[in-house]
Amino acid sequence: MSQSPHPFHLISLSILLLSSISSSRAKVDSFTYVNEGEFGPYITEYGADYRVLPIGTSPFQMAFYNTTPGAFYLALRMGTTRSESVFRWVWEANRGRPVGENATFSLLPDGNLVLADADRRNVWSTGTANKGVVGLKVLPTGNIILYDSKDRTIWQSFDHPTDTLLVGQSLDYNKGPNKLVSRRSVTDGSYGIYSLVFQPGGINLFMNDYLTYYNSSVNGILDFSGNPILLEAEPETEDAFAYEVRFASAGHGTTILTRPKYNATLSFLRLDIDGNLVVYTYYDPVDYRAWEKTFALFSDQIGLLPGCALPSKCSKFGVCQDEMCVSCPSPVGQLGWSNGCVPPQVKGCNNKGKGQTEDYYKIVGVENFVSTYTKGEGKVKMEECRRKCTMDCKCVGFLYWEKEGKCWLANFLGTLSKVDESSHVVYVKYLKN
Ligand SMILES: *[C@@H]1O[C@H](CO)[C@@H](O)[C@H](O)[C@H]1NC(C)=O
Ligand SMILES: *[C@@H]1O[C@H](CO)[C@@H](O)[C@H](O)[C@H]1NC(C)=O
Ligand SMILES: *[C@@H]1O[C@H](CO)[C@@H](O)[C@H](O)[C@H]1NC(C)=O
Repeated sequence: MSQSPHPFHLISLSILLLSSISSSRAKVDSFTYVNEGEFGPYITEYGADYRVLPIGTSPFQMAFYNTTPGAFYLALRMGTTRSESVFRWVWEANRGRPVGENATFSLLPDGNLVLADADRRNVWSTGTANKGVVGLKVLPTGNIILYDSKDRTIWQSFDHPTDTLLVGQSLDYNKGPNKLVSRRSVTDGSYGIYSLVFQPGGINLFMNDYLTYYNSSVNGILDFSGNPILLEAEPETEDAFAYEVRFASAGHGTTILTRPKYNATLSFLRLDIDGNLVVYTYYDPVDYRAWEKTFALFSDQIGLLPGCALPSKCSKFGVCQDEMCVSCPSPVGQLGWSNGCVPPQVKGCNNKGKGQTEDYYKIVGVENFVSTYTKGEGKVKMEECRRKCTMDCKCVGFLYWEKEGKCWLANFLGTLSKVDESSHVVYVKYLKN
């Protein structure tokens, strides 16, 4: 401070501050927990280490977890020790911004919920200072809430989903939240490349924010006319022999995702690391394997769309048939598929002058999501489609329907689904020596 204030002002100011702090301090059930000590003994999702906090309502418990040393997330886990099944992570506060050892998680006397690193730098907070918060609790649904003296919710974790939507949680394109973002990888909990966005018309899935690989208006599934939509799990009949896990929008009906023949109240929907939209259901009464994957949008068995329609089904590249990756296309023909199958590397337009020219190889009877979700161009000749791809530095190949003369340029090929129509072909760009 460059100048000291007048002593009298300083005193009256501090009295004012003290009285306001003490009046709110009297009410707030504040706490501070430090991220330190032994790790817990149970198996958790992503092979994470964790330290539980004494905050939770079964089967939900708050904890610090880490998948790489020294990079911790404040999170909510789901599961019980009784069934000896894996614990799953269903929410986290500081996504993509990990904290270290000795970080603190505090409900401050002013009502703000704060996660700070050991050097006291704030990493995450709810921004609820002086809003009347008196305490924090975890509801039986897994919603973490800050409430005031009249038990009104001031802040709730349900308004800030990560990749997971719990039963009782909504998506709302007017007031939000309306988005889930996948986890980057097992070891990296930051934002991945897949997102689910609920918007007028229904649910869309995007890769890298712009490539659509699911559009409910096109598929006619998960296309809701109402807003918001609520994930719920309800007994099908009074006898409750089966439960429906479904999206419901008030006055606009429901869409059933899965129908387990047991109490499926403890379910959640997740946009998985690979971009698939899945439901996991936890059934505590069994002694082991309490989790079941009860729904996957892209799955021949438990889904609504073929497993091969998932862009990442064959990892980076491959031909898929009956939910199996059957070959790895190459300039010299179809090779056996493995996880190492990658498309040819054609970096931008800087290939000229290196003695290499761009060429294309053809794969017959395949297509990918591009032709389902984008219009494409027609009617054009194959040569014209090819010329456009060659001119376009981002184009890695093109889809072409020989009978219709339809053309789609592709910036990403990924999984190519085998189709019966052999005139649906894909040309892959590569560099010829
Ligand atoms: C955490 O704090 C404890 C107690 O102050 C200290 O002994 C320990 O070295 C700290 N750990 C790290 C990694 O800084
Ligand atoms: C989804 O499809 C509908 C109908 O074809 C279209 O109007 C809409 O723009 C598409 N949404 C996205 C995000 O591409
Ligand atoms: C179903 O499971 C939920 C969550 O464990 C529980 O609260 C509810 O009472 C169960 N319903 C029945 C009918 O057993």
